[in-house]
Amino acid sequence: MCGIIGVVGSSDTLATLLEGLARLEYRGYDSAGIALVRPGQTWRARCAAGTESVAALRIECERAPSGFSSGIGHTRWATHGAPEVANAHPHLDCSGNIAIIHNGIIENHTELQVELEARGHTFTSVTDSEVLAHLIEESRSQGLELLDAVRASLKLVRGAFALAAMDAGEPDVIVAARRISPLVVGTAAGVTYLASDVPAILDRATAFYAVNDDEVVRLGPEGFRAVDLDGAPVRLHQLSIEWDLETAQKGGNDDFITKEINEQPDALRDTLMDRRRPDGTITFDELRISDDELREVKRVVLVAAGTSHHAALVAKYAIERWARLSVDVDISSEYRYRDPVVEIGTLVIGVSQSGETIDTIMATREAQRRGARVVAISNIVDSSMAREASAVIYTRAGLEVSVASTKSYVAQIAALELLALRLAQLRGTLDPSDIDAFFHGLNAVGAQVATALERRGHVEDVAKQLIGAHDFFFIGRHLGFPTAMEGALKLKELSYLHAEGYPGGELKHGPLALIEPGVVVVAVATDLVMHEKILSNLAEVKARGATVVAVATDDDDAIAAVADYVLRVPATEPMFSPMVDVVPLQIFAYSMARGLGRNVDRPRNLAKTVTVE
Ligand code: M6R
Repeated sequence: MCGIIGVVGSSDTLATLLEGLARLEYRGYDSAGIALVRPGQTWRARCAAGTESVAALRIECERAPSGFSSGIGHTRWATHGAPEVANAHPHLDCSGNIAIIHNGIIENHTELQVELEARGHTFTSVTDSEVLAHLIEESRSQGLELLDAVRASLKLVRGAFALAAMDAGEPDVIVAARRISPLVVGTAAGVTYLASDVPAILDRATAFYAVNDDEVVRLGPEGFRAVDLDGAPVRLHQLSIEWDLETAQKGGNDDFITKEINEQPDALRDTLMDRRRPDGTITFDELRISDDELREVKRVVLVAAGTSHHAALVAKYAIERWARLSVDVDISSEYRYRDPVVEIGTLVIGVSQSGETIDTIMATREAQRRGARVVAISNIVDSSMAREASAVIYTRAGLEVSVASTKSYVAQIAALELLALRLAQLRGTLDPSDIDAFFHGLNAVGAQVATALERRGHVEDVAKQLIGAHDFFFIGRHLGFPTAMEGALKLKELSYLHAEGYPGGELKHGPLALIEPGVVVVAVATDLVMHEKILSNLAEVKARGATVVAVATDDDDAIAAVADYVLRVPATEPMFSPMVDVVPLQIFAYSMARGLGRNVDRPRNLAKTVTVE
């Protein structure tokens, strides 16, 4: 999730790149950089200054030589390698003439780098991307034109990319290519552009074209030509763009949260990419903890706040079931004040999208002080928690702008379930064939989430019917319970309506007294283990006049007898259901909030990153 931009044939190259990067900052701001290319010279500037990276780059570029009509720029959201200048794009080949920018993940970068180093290449970063510069360098040295050199290089890589390459030996040409990560080309009189997203070039280009997977485009001042990986010509589809700039930055959506809800399949795919070796070993490149240390774990404690706490609740089921380890889940703001017991073999997992939530940082610090090994699950590379912890696993959900967490939640569950599988693998508590089946099942969840997203219209209709209701109870049992908690939190923070999340079996111990006509009970009823029991809970609330909304699987015929409204989701392996079932609840909360005129990206009284106790 990085932003990329390029321009050929411009009299205003530097301004085009810097303006474009400023508009792409929402895709990441760990660092920003540009390369300007003319015959025999590649000039590069890079800065890593967090949210100020583009501003710092602008100052750095005041010393840029003039007379460049072509260049590329990048704003980075770190996945491999810390957010430092050395890891900032563009990356150069050994000669310093070839510059590349890349968005995506090159899955086989480690093996490619070993081979390239053995052939004499020197690497200056710890990114997955730099291999591309050196692969292109090798093909160019065999006499291939830049277009063919990029094609040849891409045949060697696995993973996702939106890539742009330039070479001072073939100036006024950019070669760009795409697989999975987005890429558009724009044209205007005598100038050609590329970008990861339309907003970067919206006011410069007059026509826009979408690049499809495994297409390679050669851009020159006169326009572009596109080919497939084998060199056969292809036509790019022209886009009709009718957005203003603000809408364009939200990817054509009304707000960031809609964009982020829709990005959940991508967040899952990216988080799971590159996590399994050909021999079946589950692997985390960034996990600084040895297999022996993981084997010695005797007990797991998860600490987190808000939505991250709900992801931790899901992880308890997975780690207990698969790795047969005892798991406690703590609200991070409570953990350190409770004089917690940390024994030899206690593994503490801090879960935090930002990695900056002070409650969770203080909890993991306390655990570390008491001798625990700490793993941070963070969406932000080199966040405070990631730096301080003994080990880290990054979710790769991309930048989350909306205060309400959505895509980072499903990515956290995926990362935690992967860790549960790794623990099971090391402890021998699951058959290798079961681990493989769960791993592949996890990789299929993105498609089920996509199906749930397609049903948005029905959820919106149900929400419309319920505008006017003020009291909501979200219930679930077993793996439906964390989802009920998350559904209630989403409704509270987005719509400001009263909502409580409960384990379904707990209603009869008190809250049932509150059930009366006008109260809405939203039930997560997808869990087969507890299905009959949740149906009984719904019968109980219905008998007391509640309106019932149920999240149920496509094949559930029994639910209609107890529910007034049913939100259908595809059936999946129970352990994966929290990632699918949350989707209609996110859309429901969003639709209620929109119906009530709330600010869905910035709910009142809240902040995206909570750095106070
Ligand atoms: O960055 P973190 O994951 O540590 O944040 C934790 C909570 O502040 C966060 O999940 C909060 O509850 C969200 N607003 C929920 O949508």
